[in-house]
Amino acid sequence: MNDWKMRLASGWNALRFAMRSRLRIRLGRVRLKPAPKAHLYPDAATKRQERELLDAYDFGRWRELLGLTDYQLNLYQLDFLHRLQPELAKRLPRALRIVDVGSRTFYYAPALFRFFRRHYEVESLTGIELDAYRRYRNGFTAYDYAQAYLRELNEPGIVRYEAVDFMKAEAPYNVCTLFLPFVTPDPLLHWGLPIGTFQPARLIEHAYRRLEQPGVLIVTNKGPEEQQSLHRLLREAGIPFADRGPFTSAFYAYDVPRYVTLVVK
Ligand SMILES: C[S@@+](CC[C@H](N)C(=O)[O-])C[C@H]1O[C@@H](n2cnc3c(N)ncnc32)[C@H](O)[C@@H]1O
Repeated sequence: MNDWKMRLASGWNALRFAMRSRLRIRLGRVRLKPAPKAHLYPDAATKRQERELLDAYDFGRWRELLGLTDYQLNLYQLDFLHRLQPELAKRLPRALRIVDVGSRTFYYAPALFRFFRRHYEVESLTGIELDAYRRYRNGFTAYDYAQAYLRELNEPGIVRYEAVDFMKAEAPYNVCTLFLPFVTPDPLLHWGLPIGTFQPARLIEHAYRRLEQPGVLIVTNKGPEEQQSLHRLLREAGIPFADRGPFTSAFYAYDVPRYVTLVVK
């Protein structure tokens, strides 16, 4: 995007973001729409892997509750975390305070919760979203959707969703997930946020500062170029990291694979 296009997009986004953040309009109760899944994974190996994850993470109820894409994305997350677990197990204590930054609708909260509950004691799991009142085509906001997942999780006091700027969140944690944080300005502008909210270096430094020892930051980026941008930020901040490369899963095929970076404290 050239400079004047950027300014124009940012000005328009700033107006709309300020309005929705101030008005905090919610449409109300979202009802999750279950969908049949019998033919979702015809391939025998994937089907077997699905069954293993459902059993290991007691996820059968969510198979019934979720819509198709939601279900596939949750399996993708479970698969991702499951394969990371041998490494996490060496780094993390038994009891965890977990924060997810930029949770959007928190559609993957079921996978996050079931994964961590299976291997650790979950003291808290908090989804943090700056733009929780962003509205979807059907009128519901990200906040409305998040409440639907939280209701079904039914872990009040443990699983929360906070409509705040992560940079203002001060509570410490020992796991922080950042799935697709904005590390370049164009995606943020396309998303509908003003350029003033683009502060990737501050965000990463804040995440690291609030991370307790022992603790792990789990970051995914869309494609190798975005991951390189993240690595530049980490190097500039003097934060050591490990590149875990691309992650792909049989449960969901993104157009661009997610690249994984771990920061261990
Ligand atoms: C590309 S989206 C990723 C959403 C989600 N993690 C996923 O994987 O689908 C980035 C999200 O980060 C949120 N965000 C950006 N800056 C933030 C901040 N300072 N605090 C909390 N959320 C933020 C955006 O509003 C957006 O929902």
